[in-house]
Amino acid sequence: MQFPTVRPRRLRRTEALRRFVRETTLSVNDFVYPLFVVHGKNIKEPIASMPGVYQMSPDQILREGESCLKLGIPAVMLFGLPAYKDEKGSSAFDPQEIVPQTVMLLKRELPELLVITDVCLCGYTGHGHCGVVENGEVKNDATLPLLAQAALVHAQAGADMVAPSDMMDGRVAAIRKLLDQHHYEDIPILSYAVKYASAFYGPFRHAADSAPQFGDRRSYQMDPANIREALKEVELDLAEGADLLMVKPALAYLDVIRAVKEKTNVPVVAYNVSGEYSLVKAAAEKGWLEESKIVLEMLLSMKRAGADIILTYHAKDAALWLQERS
Ligand code: PBG
Repeated sequence: MQFPTVRPRRLRRTEALRRFVRETTLSVNDFVYPLFVVHGKNIKEPIASMPGVYQMSPDQILREGESCLKLGIPAVMLFGLPAYKDEKGSSAFDPQEIVPQTVMLLKRELPELLVITDVCLCGYTGHGHCGVVENGEVKNDATLPLLAQAALVHAQAGADMVAPSDMMDGRVAAIRKLLDQHHYEDIPILSYAVKYASAFYGPFRHAADSAPQFGDRRSYQMDPANIREALKEVELDLAEGADLLMVKPALAYLDVIRAVKEKTNVPVVAYNVSGEYSLVKAAAEKGWLEESKIVLEMLLSMKRAGADIILTYHAKDAALWLQERS
């Protein structure tokens, strides 16, 4: 069968037809909104490299949580800026610190909002690496109990889900074991299973004050050239008990999202990271592209690639645009 019998344009003629045969849909239910929480009151500090994103004190975070629920966004991901940093990242597992305290507030005031916490050390250590450093090296095994402790403290505060982003080997198992020992067997782990050593994280490191003070993260985050290795990471994390798997960044790694989707049967999460966000924002500010259309197209492409859930700084805007369009 071929032209003129076959005419693909027949199904593109009207909006009703296009809607009828559409293969992928983007929904507000797919979104997670990342938030940066700082100590204090009434603080809403703009992040220069990420227009529209702020470091906020817990009272302001609560307002963000409310507006997420109003828009239909089911979940937020919390990143903390602690009051102090040390070699071990002790503030990452201090129950008095900003993330557990904010989790308690959110769960008390907005019980129906899903609160996910980022579990890592980079924002809590003086050197800015995601694990314990000895002789200039990031030590894997010494880091595991600290990450597990951070996850436990988040769970004790009431977090609905914990999301380790450090890329240490064996951390999902270490976290699962400690959570289970303390009877948090129902708290799921969203593993940043496939996290590349990417320049797309640049703006985030200002937002979270988490840039490494020496070297880079290539000894623990993945080489952007590798996709078979992504499947190895995924296999290991599933064996260790990961409930959801993340691929990060998203836009330059759609092939990886697709591969992970095909090889697994758990929800696949795409992280539309800070650099992807800031590129769009900068171009939109210059009037070089139409922000709403670009964002919805990018998010749709992540879903088409296989993502079930998308973490994105565009979540609130996109939720509004989706409402306007329907
Ligand atoms: C910390 C962490 C990073 C991001 C999320 N968790 C940065 C990094 O690895 O340096 C990046 C998120 C973004 O760029 O939006 N481990």
